Amino acid sequence: HAPLRVALVGLGTVGGGVIRLLETNGALIARRAGCPIQIVAISARDRNKDRGVDLSPYEWVDDMTTLAARDDVDVVVELIGGADGPALTLARQCLNAGKPFVTANKAMLAHHGLDLARLAETGGIALKYEAAVAGGIPVIKGMREGAAANEISRVYGILNGTCNYILTTMEKEGRSFADVLKEAQDLGFAEADPGIDIDGVDAAHKLSILASLAFGTELDFDAVATTGIRHVIAADIAEAAALGYRIRLVGMAQNAPVDGPDGGLFQRVHPMLVPLDHPLAHVDGSLNAVVAEGNFVGRLFFQGRGAGDDPTASAVVADLIDVARDEYGDAFAMPVAALTPHQSADAGAR
Ligand code: HSE
Repeated sequence: HAPLRVALVGLGTVGGGVIRLLETNGALIARRAGCPIQIVAISARDRNKDRGVDLSPYEWVDDMTTLAARDDVDVVVELIGGADGPALTLARQCLNAGKPFVTANKAMLAHHGLDLARLAETGGIALKYEAAVAGGIPVIKGMREGAAANEISRVYGILNGTCNYILTTMEKEGRSFADVLKEAQDLGFAEADPGIDIDGVDAAHKLSILASLAFGTELDFDAVATTGIRHVIAADIAEAAALGYRIRLVGMAQNAPVDGPDGGLFQRVHPMLVPLDHPLAHVDGSLNAVVAEGNFVGRLFFQGRGAGDDPTASAVVADLIDVARDEYGDAFAMPVAALTPHQSADAGAR
């Protein structure tokens, strides 16, 4: 098939990861997607920044607002971030122009996801955002597809890698908050403004997206009660440990019966005491985890790398593969004859 032609907007940590991933796994991705996935155009705020990636194979576009109308671009990937501004303009332009749109922008979705989803659904245009929640964990696909048949009673988890890195490193290494935050920034986990992480706002963005998916409610970020980890001190962590708990920043959305006194959907993010026998107590470093409770499937537990270039790029490119598959249709989504199945000696006996 002809290649899927991608315009990549935003060349920060994740953008660089997407370029490297497509270069490294290009052949395998082409087999899975049914066509090669090729970046044809790139754009970002600052052309001259040294990003440590070779950008010379790609056409540089100064004005990203021209991309939505280009016939030689099949899909736009937005990795610039920010709830409003250029990311939102680009999203609206693409969806209005019928151009599939892939984004990792949880802030934009938390604030404008409902409008964007309406735009996408009205036009029948793909709007994909696997990378917006929990980095590399396929939790959007897991909830949208895998758990789709279930009534969900609760969805909760560790949704911010920076905070989890800070809390778990403070606990293990006895280091100070500020010191570990600096390290999380150096490792590429934190937002450009790390206040968004440590005040719980980033986790709240993600929770509002998850809650909307899990409960079929309109995305409502303002309804999330949010407290971050800024005021957690080493003594709190020690005290929790003495009582048999660990402190984690947890986002939780829960559906209480609407006819009860406290009925409705509750969404909250705050530091919680997690008992040691709960799997969330063992999610360390920049890992994220999401638990969903469904009435037929029971408890689902997703865990993986929630921040950083490689895992987030993995989710972005998975969305691109989805876009390519939708285009070409591929029921099994498997490469043809890429691997010969191993025949065990007793295969014929079964
Ligand atoms: N700053 C975010 C985090 C990046 O630490 O989880 C991934 O969304």
